[in-house]
Amino acid sequence: MSKYKIAWMPGDGVGNDVMEATRGVLDQLRFDAEYVRCDIGWEFWCNEGNALPDRTVAALKGTTCGLFGAITSKPQDEAKEELIPSLKDKGLVYFSPIVKLRQMFNLHTNMRPCKSYAGNPLNYRGNKITNPSGEDVKIDQVVFRENTEGMYGGVEFFPLPESVYEALCANPKMKPWKAKGLEHVALSTRIVSKQGCTSICKQAFEFAKKTGRKRVTLIEKPNVLRETGGLMTRCFREVAKSYPDIWADEANIDAICMWMFKNPQDYSVLVAENMFGDIVSDLCAGLIGGLGFAPSANLGDTYAVFEPTHGSAPKYSGQYKVNPIAMLLTAKMMLDWLKETDMATRLEAAIARVIVEGKVRTYDMGGKASTLEMAQAIGAYATA
Ligand code: IPM
Ligand code: MG
Repeated sequence: MSKYKIAWMPGDGVGNDVMEATRGVLDQLRFDAEYVRCDIGWEFWCNEGNALPDRTVAALKGTTCGLFGAITSKPQDEAKEELIPSLKDKGLVYFSPIVKLRQMFNLHTNMRPCKSYAGNPLNYRGNKITNPSGEDVKIDQVVFRENTEGMYGGVEFFPLPESVYEALCANPKMKPWKAKGLEHVALSTRIVSKQGCTSICKQAFEFAKKTGRKRVTLIEKPNVLRETGGLMTRCFREVAKSYPDIWADEANIDAICMWMFKNPQDYSVLVAENMFGDIVSDLCAGLIGGLGFAPSANLGDTYAVFEPTHGSAPKYSGQYKVNPIAMLLTAKMMLDWLKETDMATRLEAAIARVIVEGKVRTYDMGGKASTLEMAQAIGAYATA
């Protein structure tokens, strides 16, 4: 019997390439796991009308945690076009299987570390005024993104039903929309709860305390989103009271997009609701060399799914071209979660060493190494 049962979900596109590379490294580390291959992704939408088949949900329930590659998501009209003929006109609706997984398994916390490694030619260097030395700006940020609520809740309408319009008229600002014709109006909702907001803020502060970090920054927009942003801000301030040694500050989502380029080294832990967390985590990834370096963990109370922040990059699919480091750092997060600390530490040190040596580089870093060559170089150091 293996120690762990890992749900293996390569998904779409380059998800397969980076997962294959990662499997090789996990085997070299002698990670004691049985891998349960699970169907998920575009192929299953097209052929079965469900990108997250029931058998996958059932299989996941018997595993320790999941490792996930990437998913192709397309807007509703395009998604319907690609269904096999017998499934067309059945009224099937596409949903992103990773978003669904996060909700089904209550993976409420999305943790996304963005750390620069010495020697990465893609490291952020700012400009001559903010960074006169021209040396790499050292970045070590961790985004805590609320993972189940907000605009990702999926409560949307088009056209807008009369009953929904009537109900929304409880707020007089709704009235003028009728004049546009409800058949021309689309509505998405941003629903957040005190529980969700409090929980993500607590996770962020607890992490800061445990790791000795001194600053937690809330990213919101309460000057415009008065109710949802207001609730999140109040929850943040309330939670912050229990951590008097940590500097708790607040930034608007638009402002942080600017500040992050001016002085990214000043930020440490960032906390946000779902959509703002999605946005800011790509921004932070850009500062450490791009999505090829950005891992993430979808964490629940007893279950977790680990996935790189990047997408399926269909144009590179099957070419073994993309950088496997995001996926390998994702595997490192999984090892940390499983308390396989020694393996996690060796894996990260091997990644750092390959980056600083600069001999093996994938195309995004200006090199010619394939996904598998990069992973092999890392695997060799991880086990040396
Ligand atoms: C991410 C991705 C997903 C998201 C997509 C693929 C649904 O952008 O994990 O950040 O929006 O959460
Ligand atoms: Mg994203």
